[in-house]
Amino acid sequence: MPKAKAVNPFKPGAGHVPPHLAGRDAEKEAFQKLLHQHEIIQNVVLTGLRGVGKTVLMEGVYKPLAINEGWIWIGSDFSEAAFVDEKAVCQRLFTDLSLFTSTLTVSSSEPSLGFRTTRLQKWPLEYPFLMEFCDSQAGLQSDKLKATLEFVWKQLEKTGKKGVLFAYDEAQVVQDRKDKDQYPLAMLLETFQSIQRKGMRYMLLLSGLPTLFPKLVESRTYAERMFKVQEIGKLQLAACKDAISKPLAGNPIQFSNESVEAIVKVSSSYPYFIQFICREAYDFFKSHYDLEQAPRAIPMDTLIRKLDADFFAGRWSKVPDRQRELLFCIACLENEEEEFSVNQVVDIAQKVAKKHDLKPFKAGDVNAMLPKLIDAGLLYKVRHGKYLLAVPLFGAFIRRQFESPKKQQPSLFDFLKER
Ligand SMILES: Nc1ncnc2c1ncn2[C@@H]1O[C@H](COP(=O)(O)OP(=O)(O)OP(=O)(O)O)[C@@H](O)[C@H]1O
Ligand SMILES: [Mg+2]
Repeated sequence: MPKAKAVNPFKPGAGHVPPHLAGRDAEKEAFQKLLHQHEIIQNVVLTGLRGVGKTVLMEGVYKPLAINEGWIWIGSDFSEAAFVDEKAVCQRLFTDLSLFTSTLTVSSSEPSLGFRTTRLQKWPLEYPFLMEFCDSQAGLQSDKLKATLEFVWKQLEKTGKKGVLFAYDEAQVVQDRKDKDQYPLAMLLETFQSIQRKGMRYMLLLSGLPTLFPKLVESRTYAERMFKVQEIGKLQLAACKDAISKPLAGNPIQFSNESVEAIVKVSSSYPYFIQFICREAYDFFKSHYDLEQAPRAIPMDTLIRKLDADFFAGRWSKVPDRQRELLFCIACLENEEEEFSVNQVVDIAQKVAKKHDLKPFKAGDVNAMLPKLIDAGLLYKVRHGKYLLAVPLFGAFIRRQFESPKKQQPSLFDFLKER
C-alpha cells in the first residue's frame, strides 16, 4: 500500500495561498482588461464577505498578472491609523511608494525642483525626500499630494513601466473624520481622479468587506463611476470541485465522488469552508488509512460540530440571549445570505417569535438591536436600510443552535450516575 502523504495540502486560514486556487476566471479577465486601459478611467474595488478569497486573489493572481504586464505593484494593508487625517494618508502612500522609488534618483538640475544651483546634487527618491517635497508644496494637503505624485510620475515614466498600481487590502477601514474636519478618504479619491485625468497612470485597487464601496460613494458620489466593483463569493460548482480534488492529484488518499458532493454541500462552495472541511477530512482518512476496514464516507456531522466549535462558537458566545433570538429570526429569512431590510426582519421576527415561543419583537426593538449586532461584527450595513449577515454560513449555524437537539442516547456517565 503506498504511503499517505504526511503533509495535509489544504490551507484554511487568512490569506493562506490554497493548494489550488480555483475559479475566478471572470474576475481575472476583467482585471486584465483594466490593466490595458490607455487612460486610467476605472479603478477596482474587490469585495466580499470574510473568507471568500479576496486576499489570495489579489496577492496570488492579480499581483503576478500586473507585474507581468509591466506595472509597479505597491501593496499593503490599510489600517485605521492611515485614515486619522489627510497627512497620514500621504505618509502611508509615500511609505509604500518609496519601496520602489528609492532606487531612482533626481538631480538638482531637475526643473520641477525649482533650484538654481551650479553644484549638481543627486537625491534618491526615498521616503524622507518624498515627504519633504510634499510638505514644501503650496495649497491644501490634497494639492501637496497631487503635486508630489505628479513629480514622481515624471521620474517613473522614464523607467518604461506601464503604471503604478496601489493595491490595498482591508480597505473597509477608510473613513472621513467630519468631527475633526479631516477628509482623508475624500482626498484620496479626489487625488486619484485628478491625476488620472491628467494622464498619469496611477491606479487604485481596494479590497475589503462589503461595507467598503458604500463608504467610498458616501465620501465622493463620483466614486460610483471611478471603480469597477468585483464582488466575489461562493465558487461555481466546477471550481468548487476542482478546489477539493485537484490538491490530491498523485496522492494515495482520494476523496470519493460522494465525499466531494458532501463537501460541496456543507461548505456551500465558500472557499474558507472548503479548505477547512477538506483539511479535516484529509486528516480523518489519513488516520484510518492503514486500517483494514478504512471508512469510505466523511463523518460530516462530526466535521460540522468541529466547524461550529472552531469557527462560529467564539463569535456566538459573546452575544446576549435576546440578540441571539433576533439573529435566529434573521437566520430564518428565506434569503438570509442576501441583503435584507429592517421591515423584512420585523415581519419574520413576528412569525418566528410566535412559532418558537419567543418574546415578541416590536419594530423599535429591532431598530435598537441592529446597531449592536453591527458593533459586534455580526452584521454589516451595506447601504441605506440594507443589512447582511457578516459571516458566510452563519445563518445555518444559528439555526443549528435553536433546533431542538435530537433525543440523546443515554451516556455511560448518565448510567453511572443512576447507579
Ligand atoms: N479560489 C480559491 N480556491 C480555493 N481556496 C481558496 C480560494 N480563495 C480562497 N481560498 C482559501 O480560502 C481561505 C480564505 O481566503 P482569504 O484569506 O483570501 O479570504 P479573504 O476574503 O481575504 O478573507 P478576509 O475578509 O477574512 O480577509 C484561505 O484558506 C484560502 O486558501
Ligand atoms: Mg483578506
